[in-house]
Amino acid sequence: MIVPLLTVLSLSFIFLLFRRLKEDSSRRRILPPGPSGIPILGNLLQLPALRPHPKLCEWASQYGEILYVKLGGQDVIVLNTAEAADELLSRRSHNYSSRAMPHVAHDLLRDGLGITFMGYGTSWRALRKALQVALGPGPSKNLRPMQEYESRVMLYDLMRHGDNSVVRDCGINAHGEVTDSHWYAPVRRYATSVTLFAIYGKRTNRFQNNPNLHLIYDVVDNFSRMSQPGNYLADVFPFLRHFPDILAPWRVKARKFHLREKGLWEGLVEECKTVMQDGEDRGGFVNSYLRARAKAGQENAPGRGLTEGDWMQDKFLAFAAGSVLEAGSDTTAMTIATFVLYMLNHPQVLQKAREEIDAVVGTERMPDWDDEERLPYFVACIKETMRHRPLVPLGIPHATMEDDFYKGYHIPKGCMVIGNIWAMHRDSERFYNPTAFIPERFYEEGKPTRWGTGPISQERDHYSFGWGRRFCQGSHIAEASLFITLSRLLWGLDFSAPLDPKTQRPILPDIANEEATWSEGFVSIPNPYKVRFAPRSAKHAELICDEFEAVQAEWRRMRLDVDER
Ligand code: HEM
Repeated sequence: MIVPLLTVLSLSFIFLLFRRLKEDSSRRRILPPGPSGIPILGNLLQLPALRPHPKLCEWASQYGEILYVKLGGQDVIVLNTAEAADELLSRRSHNYSSRAMPHVAHDLLRDGLGITFMGYGTSWRALRKALQVALGPGPSKNLRPMQEYESRVMLYDLMRHGDNSVVRDCGINAHGEVTDSHWYAPVRRYATSVTLFAIYGKRTNRFQNNPNLHLIYDVVDNFSRMSQPGNYLADVFPFLRHFPDILAPWRVKARKFHLREKGLWEGLVEECKTVMQDGEDRGGFVNSYLRARAKAGQENAPGRGLTEGDWMQDKFLAFAAGSVLEAGSDTTAMTIATFVLYMLNHPQVLQKAREEIDAVVGTERMPDWDDEERLPYFVACIKETMRHRPLVPLGIPHATMEDDFYKGYHIPKGCMVIGNIWAMHRDSERFYNPTAFIPERFYEEGKPTRWGTGPISQERDHYSFGWGRRFCQGSHIAEASLFITLSRLLWGLDFSAPLDPKTQRPILPDIANEEATWSEGFVSIPNPYKVRFAPRSAKHAELICDEFEAVQAEWRRMRLDVDER
């Protein structure tokens, strides 16, 4: 066993070395600049797999707007300025809209079916087109009543949470994981419930002892870790993919997790099918899709591809829908958690945003959609949070479909192209004093609210939703969720960090401390921290309770589960 294996390894090594030397001789002069690596591994050992953005930012300041690194067998181009990303990822998106699919997280874990890493082609186009009917700028407005209702529940839950995670149970278990008693739990319930409704037409009515919700979080967390570029050698050295199971523990692990995901995602679609067979007219992407597919004569479509009429078959639909649930849930919840952290760290900003909300809304009602236009400073605070701390600091890498040239540099076919959002948001030519948190940069007194995240790249205020044809399809839903939950939070609740008993100073995570405050993984979230919540007045508390009670009647009317507390 060992001898043939060593032979295969040696031959592979010689083959790769030879190919690398050949490639280097033809490309050395034309590839963008970058740090020199070592044979075979390239720059793999220089780039921390689970937290690569600080290193890439350092290289960006050294090499400029475009740099080249090699991760094992994978060519990687990193775009460090908005100008370069706009030109390649947006204007030339016909060539830059594929993905360098991570073998373990996409091929094995997802059987190649999740939208996040799906290559550009017929399947991705069919899925993206189908999703537009639910997530596009127009249709996403239909979700607003749901976001408004669910935000009332979140506000009520945070008020009830009070100082639980400060005085009683810290909400974090022995493994450092967030438990149901942490204040993240009701925020995550909000975001998951809204996305569940958009995709499956159902909601989740409790965050305590809810195994289905935990399963979703586990799957999301696992995917974020497994898909970090460079995390698995099999992602960057294709020859390792031919190893037998005994030498490929990543495959055994991914297969196990695949079955877990399959059970979850297929179960959710099966539930929609049962509802449809029972004649119930439920909303949500999957239900509408199944109805349309049945109408087109494809009610039964087992398989993992497309039917002749380009309808998604069952396994494809299940994983596609699940990957959207994943894309929309924790991203939103953890942007809310990030915003709270920034407000705690910048009390003068919080006060100014709150004064604006109080002046527009008063105390007789909660903020609502109509107020959006008149809350430009508050929205500037959201945008500045997303600029200062993009949740996905390197975006989701794109990939080229053909060879290309940019400013004389060769960009090879099949190359991974990273839009380095982290570096772009720290570009001092674009943003004055970029490491400072200054919402005023997006605010002009007297001018109405502007989100600045539309399709025209040059008019964007931040790049946290990506670029071109792969631009985040849920950005409208995300911004609406951020607006309604955070405006209500600032309006209704005081929130503060616990005080250190000795110094009487607030115990607050240091935003600038990368390792201590922010998680690893390609989605970087604030590690759980403690906050106490309290109603701003008895009047606010009364209104929050009344609105929570009123929404229960809405759930009954909509034949959805009422909240269990
Ligand atoms: C604040 C919250 C969110 C952030 C920061 C975020 C960020 C991103 C980013 C950076 C991408 C990759 C873009 C690219 O490749 O250039 C993406 C893709 C995507 N997002 Fe979001 N997202 C958020 C919320 C949502 C929501 C609420 C949904 C749906 C309900 C959603 C659905 C998607 C989908 C389907 C894709 C994949 C697009 C594709 O590959 O074709 N996202 N998101």
